[in-house]
Amino acid sequence: MAATFDLIIHGGTCMTPSGRAETSVGVRDGKIVAIGDLDPNAAASTFDAKGLHVLPGVIDTQVHFREPGAEHKEDLAHGTKAAIMGGVTAIFEMPNTNPLTITTEAIADKVTRASGRAWCDFAFFMGAAAENADAMGTLEMSPGCCGVKLFMGASTGDLLVADDPTIERVLRHGIRRVAIHAEDEPRMQARFHIAEEAADAHAHPEWRDAESARLATERVLRIAKRTGRRVHVLHITTAEEIELLGRHKDVATVECTPQHLTLEAPDCYDRLGSFAQMNPPIRDARHRAGLWAGVQSGVVDVIGSDHAPHTREEKSGTYPNTPSGMPGVQTLVPVMLNHVHEGRLTLERFVDLTAHGPQRIFNIAGKGRLAVGYDADFTLVDLKETRTITDDWIVSKCGWTPFNGMKVTGWPMATIIRGATVMRDGAVQDAPTGAPVRFQETLNAG
Ligand code: DOR
Repeated sequence: MAATFDLIIHGGTCMTPSGRAETSVGVRDGKIVAIGDLDPNAAASTFDAKGLHVLPGVIDTQVHFREPGAEHKEDLAHGTKAAIMGGVTAIFEMPNTNPLTITTEAIADKVTRASGRAWCDFAFFMGAAAENADAMGTLEMSPGCCGVKLFMGASTGDLLVADDPTIERVLRHGIRRVAIHAEDEPRMQARFHIAEEAADAHAHPEWRDAESARLATERVLRIAKRTGRRVHVLHITTAEEIELLGRHKDVATVECTPQHLTLEAPDCYDRLGSFAQMNPPIRDARHRAGLWAGVQSGVVDVIGSDHAPHTREEKSGTYPNTPSGMPGVQTLVPVMLNHVHEGRLTLERFVDLTAHGPQRIFNIAGKGRLAVGYDADFTLVDLKETRTITDDWIVSKCGWTPFNGMKVTGWPMATIIRGATVMRDGAVQDAPTGAPVRFQETLNAG
C-alpha cells in the first residue's frame, strides 16, 4: 500500500497557532497535511523529535549575501548554508550589491544565481533609488521580489534616498511593504568629524547618534501617514524610537536584531572594536532595555539578523575606514533561544517574531505557520542543549561571529524545508534545493 505521508515528525512538542501540542505532523508533497495522532507506519519516512520543539520554519527577513559584486565576503551558497546550519528555512536578501538590485533584471539575475545553489528558500528586495522611484509599482512585482528596501542613511554600498520628496515618490508608487533603514543622512554627515577625530569604534554610536535614528524614523512615519503606505522600519536601536513606533502601529511595523538585543556599548567596543561596528550602531544599556521593552510589549514585529559579513582583514582596519556590519544568519536562533532560556521572551513570542511576523508583514504565501496547508518548513530546537558559539562553527565566508565564545542554552538541531531534512545535528543534505518564496500578491492590494 502506498504511504499516506512522505514524512511524519513525531514525539516532539509542536508550536501550533493554537499553542504547544505534543502531537505529530504529517507531510505530503512538501506541505503539512495533518496534525494529530498519526500512525508512523503510514509514512514513507519518520523523524523522531523526542525532546525537541518543532517550530514553524524561521524566516530571516534581513540578510546581505553580497552576490553579485563582493563574493569575497559572502555568496548565496555560503550564506544560505549558514542559514540552514542555524535553523533558518528562508531568507530575504538586501539590494546593496554591485550592481545594485534596482531593476527587474537584477532580481531575475539573483533568482538565477540562487537556483541550484541556495540551501534554503529565498526572496530579494528591490532597492529604492531616485532613478527608479516612479517605476516602483511595477518593479516591486518582479518574480522573486519580497518588497522594497530604502536606505535613508548611507551605509555599505551606494543605495541612498536621503530626501523626503524622493522618499515620498517611492512610497506613492506600489503597494508592497517598504523596508526602511532609518538614519538621518544630513545629521550624520555633519557629525562625521566625531568618528574621524576619535579613530576608535567606541565613537560609532556617538557619530551615528540616537538622534540620527530617531529623526529619520520620525520623518518616514510622517511620510507614511501622508501617503497611506505602510513601512517596515528595520533594526531599531533606540528607546525613543520604540516609544514613537508604538504610537504608529497603523502605518509601521518594526524589526530588531539579535545583536542590538544582546550586545551593548561600551562593552562590545571594548571587546570587539570595529568588529562590533554596524549601522545603526550598538548602543548603551538604556537603549537595549528600551528594545526589550518593545519586544515584550508587542511593538516589535520581527527579529531579523541583518547578516552583513565583512572579512576579518576589512574589519581590522582603522576606524572609521572599517566597514559596518556583522554576520548573524547562523546565530539568530541560538542567540534568541538563549534569551528564551533566560526568561526575556517566551518561545511563543519567538515564533511570533520569526515566522508569524514575517508572514503577516510581507504577505508570504504558505509559509510562517505550523498549520495544515502550509509548506512543511520546520526549525527543530532543543531548548535544553547548552553549547558555545565559536568562529569555527560559522559557515559564512567571513568565518567569524561577534558571539564567538558565548555559551548559550537552546540550539537548532534540525532544519526541514518543504518536507526535506536539509540539516540534522549539524550535517547538511547532499545538494541545495532552495526555491523562491511565494507571496499573496492580491492581498497586498487590500
Ligand atoms: O551595518 C550595516 N551593514 N548596516 C547596513 O545597513 C548595511 C550593512 C552592510 O551591507 O554591510
